[in-house]
Amino acid sequence: MTHSARSLLSRVEFSLPETAVDQPARDHAATAGAGGLSHVEFATPDSAEHDRWSLAHPLLFLKAWAAHPLRMGSVFPSSRSLCQRIVRVAWPTPGKCVLILGAGTGVVPQAFLEARLAPERLVVLEIDPNMAAHLRNRYPGVTVIQGDARTLPDLLPERFQGRIGSVVCCIPLVMLPEAEQRRFIDAMNAVAPGRGFVHYSYCVTSPLPARKLGLSGSRKAWTPLNIPPASVWRYSAL
Ligand SMILES: C[S@@+](CC[C@H](N)C(=O)[O-])C[C@H]1O[C@@H](n2cnc3c(N)ncnc32)[C@H](O)[C@@H]1O
Repeated sequence: MTHSARSLLSRVEFSLPETAVDQPARDHAATAGAGGLSHVEFATPDSAEHDRWSLAHPLLFLKAWAAHPLRMGSVFPSSRSLCQRIVRVAWPTPGKCVLILGAGTGVVPQAFLEARLAPERLVVLEIDPNMAAHLRNRYPGVTVIQGDARTLPDLLPERFQGRIGSVVCCIPLVMLPEAEQRRFIDAMNAVAPGRGFVHYSYCVTSPLPARKLGLSGSRKAWTPLNIPPASVWRYSAL
């Protein structure tokens, strides 16, 4: 991409109200609220570490996509730009944990760690055994659960019960029939009652029929710097 194209894209991105950011918040814990944070500082990843994983992520993702295309929803892992927007929307209140469903290659948990969320406040769940093994290897200190998110209440370790402040659902719910969407939503609500969830999507409109599912949804951010461009949505019970 040329310099001028990149600069145009970033202007488009930051001209949207939901991404037009504001005052720095050095102490995330002190400024966090139920609706996330408008500004988070992200540490730059160590370049040797970054090189070590930069090829592993797309290859792992492509392999999983070839085996289960519907479960993956896209051919590419989420971009750094998208993950950073998810972190801002889903930042938990002080002391609470973040639960990430369908963590895939780990790019979303990585962004939370770069924003200095302590690894012990992250719980990630992934159905694919190879990806779950990769997540365990890549993110020591983060709790990794291998299993199906629809059975979440049975899978979440007891020590996290009542401590989930924020849920990020990376599973492509848009592909599923309404009854199946409801199963995921009920499972999330069972472990984080009243917290709602953050979801991302490549759709122009809401990826979920919110009202029919008893939810209210709003688009909180958008980025063109993802393949394909993506929006971050927050859903809460009506
Ligand atoms: C869109 S991909 C995740 C992407 C992640 N943001 C990344 O870039 O690596 C969706 C992930 O959800 C996982 N998944 C799909 N259905 C699931 C289920 N029922 N329970 C848990 N994980 C599931 C898939 O294996 C896949 O890793």
